[in-house]
Amino acid sequence: MAPKDAGTYLEVNLRQAVTEFSPLQSEINKLIKSSGPMPVWRYMELCLLHPEHGYYVSRDPLGREGDFTTAPEVSQMFGELLGLWAASVWKAIGSPPMLRLIELGPGRGTMMADALRALRVLPPLYQALSVHLVEINPVLREKQRATLSGVRSISWHDSIDEVPEGPAVIFANEYFDVLPIHQAVKRETGWHERVVNLDANGRLVFGASAEPIPRFEVLLPPLVRAAPVGAVFEWRPDSEIMKIATRVRDQDGAALIIDYGHMRSDAGDTFQAIARHSFADPLKNPGQADVTAHVDFQALTRAAEDLGARVHGPATQGDFLKRLGIETRAVTLMGKTTPEVSADISGALKRLTDSGRGGMGSMFKVMAITEPHLTSVAGLSDEQAPGPSTP
Ligand SMILES: C[S@@+](CC[C@H](N)C(=O)[O-])C[C@H]1O[C@@H](n2cnc3c(N)ncnc32)[C@H](O)[C@@H]1O
Repeated sequence: MAPKDAGTYLEVNLRQAVTEFSPLQSEINKLIKSSGPMPVWRYMELCLLHPEHGYYVSRDPLGREGDFTTAPEVSQMFGELLGLWAASVWKAIGSPPMLRLIELGPGRGTMMADALRALRVLPPLYQALSVHLVEINPVLREKQRATLSGVRSISWHDSIDEVPEGPAVIFANEYFDVLPIHQAVKRETGWHERVVNLDANGRLVFGASAEPIPRFEVLLPPLVRAAPVGAVFEWRPDSEIMKIATRVRDQDGAALIIDYGHMRSDAGDTFQAIARHSFADPLKNPGQADVTAHVDFQALTRAAEDLGARVHGPATQGDFLKRLGIETRAVTLMGKTTPEVSADISGALKRLTDSGRGGMGSMFKVMAITEPHLTSVAGLSDEQAPGPSTP
């Protein structure tokens, strides 16, 4: 074939490939062509929060028909127990006449609805509550409005900074994993920022910055310094955890963080995409899949303790929920229903607490942050938690 024909053939193929890209990928390609490869954190941020095509800007991703199912969507028991946990914190800080119940990234509002139902059995606390939802997704905000329509005092915020002062219980379930991460990859020359670049066909590929990150090694956890060439280390900026820790340290209360992740900081690439309940390539179809990374609980602990807040845990989700009495709650619910629903409750209990395949029990971790004088919190200390007493 003459070179001219070959060129035309290639051009047509390339044009076809380009038109197959998602709208967000076309934008990302343009950005890379004009400004060069982008760091992984910027790519993740665009995938999730691009004002027009970002994954969390335009859809409800939860549930069987969506991309993933979270613990509150598995069973009402999860939110109910968290409600009782909030009650135990309220008592431990002297039952203040006003308590802000804050949820970061509240999804469909299911967990808050279940927690509030459990809290109705404590009228003095229920009357003291104001609910604050920090949510950027307009589609999910609408769902939350519908789910929580009867709640007396409720408001929405773009950021925790906007929530008025006062003692608070802050919940963050599967919130930290969607906050963008940085990645660095180890080369012979040092640690380089991991970037997203274009290959010759206009497809997204991973690469590394030309120059190593200056003095990066000294900032690394000891375990990671000895990592072999090729290893990946990832981290999140501390800004969100610092805001939470500062708030509970200065204004009383506690935060409860639940997410999948690891107890110890270590090397490893956990950047992943999830679509239709399966893992997907995070560089394919940006904006169409949830992109997440595991949460480093040791890094969260360090950041909170550096500010003088007290950290409790982390524990596995299975241990935490069992200490809060999930098994007793399941038996109570099963005693009141049909054999079919009873089997569903038993399945949900397993899913939330088991460590085996499909179980969330050990993959998910739970940690609390409180003001420094609160020496123990339910489910994360040795003492017994308040047993569930919801009807
Ligand atoms: C994985 S979902 C978890 C939802 C809910 N917590 C649950 O367990 O069902 C992440 C939630 O965080 C919200 N979100 C993502 N990025 C956010 C941001 N930067 N600020 C506030 N909310 C955010 C999403 O819209 C969604 O509600």
